[in-house]
Amino acid sequence: MSLAFDYRGPTPRSDTEIFRADVLSGLSARRKTLPAKYFYDSAGSLLFDRITELDEYYPTRTETALLTDIAGEIAHLAGPDAVVVEFGAGSLAKIRILLDALRTPRAYMPIDVSGAHLMAAAAELRGHYPELHVTPIIADFTEPLTIPFAGNANVFGFFPGSTIGNFDPPEARRFLRRASATLPKGALFLVGADTKKDRAILERAYNDSEGVTAAFNLNLLARINRELGGDFDLSRFRHRAFYNHDLGRIEMHLESTGAQTVHVAGRSVRFAEGETIHTENSYKYSAPQFATLAASSGWTARRLWTADRNLFALHLLENA
Ligand SMILES: C[S@@+](CC[C@H](N)C(=O)[O-])C[C@H]1O[C@@H](n2cnc3c(N)ncnc32)[C@H](O)[C@@H]1O
Repeated sequence: MSLAFDYRGPTPRSDTEIFRADVLSGLSARRKTLPAKYFYDSAGSLLFDRITELDEYYPTRTETALLTDIAGEIAHLAGPDAVVVEFGAGSLAKIRILLDALRTPRAYMPIDVSGAHLMAAAAELRGHYPELHVTPIIADFTEPLTIPFAGNANVFGFFPGSTIGNFDPPEARRFLRRASATLPKGALFLVGADTKKDRAILERAYNDSEGVTAAFNLNLLARINRELGGDFDLSRFRHRAFYNHDLGRIEMHLESTGAQTVHVAGRSVRFAEGETIHTENSYKYSAPQFATLAASSGWTARRLWTADRNLFALHLLENA
């Protein structure tokens, strides 16, 4: 089965119109900001895949190793014939660990906003799991989403990659409440969340020596140039990433290296030297913080697995 769902409302604005409105609103704010979801066009998704392979970027290999260790337990808890729904599924790499462990998984629905990348990854996955119904859903998971599950479906949600850390806490609560409405009552939801740790480890992960994270961050400006007729000079913006201890988050910014005026979609945007566009947050959660977040958003914490040296955590929640 190869259906691509689009759950937008009856008279949707085009993706480009929404992108333009979000970019102009973010760039005209007193503190300039851009939504992190716009990192992920096809070029951004490929750059993210390269980030996951970097020595400095511990989250992917740590979460993958943890998932491999606990896959048997997860399969036991999930039970047979699961319908797996993955949020922000990217290149569909981690799901293979679960699919290999689950007993007769029935269907897999990966949700992602990076449409072309998702469709290509889904086609490749089908080649490896010919018995599985793979149904990619190109959608923004911050919007309401209704999936017509059969009444008796055994639904298992999956949200790896610490993508939940890209939301601030109120947004994370809104996302979890929406996921609770999308998935049936009683569904299990496995969420990967990065943990608080030594500042040096965190900052190294977002400032790699090959400059791949910088290229990923700058691709947002390249995308604005490509899709909205912008004239950002990428050589006049610099990647900055640092740990904000008080807020418990990595912040990524693009810093203007001089005073300049940029044009986007017919508007002028002025930058002072040193002024930044805040492009991403990555919140780090202690176990009690995450349990409180889940409990206030319609979920019951069932299990917690942590990696060596508490480098990463997988939280198993149940839809209360
Ligand atoms: C940090 S990457 C994680 C990818 C993969 N799950 C992993 O664990 O390596 C975030 C993924 O979520 C997707 N994404 C980000 N914001 C999204 C949104 N609002 N709606 C749907 N997908 C989104 C991106 O396209 C990307 O594939």
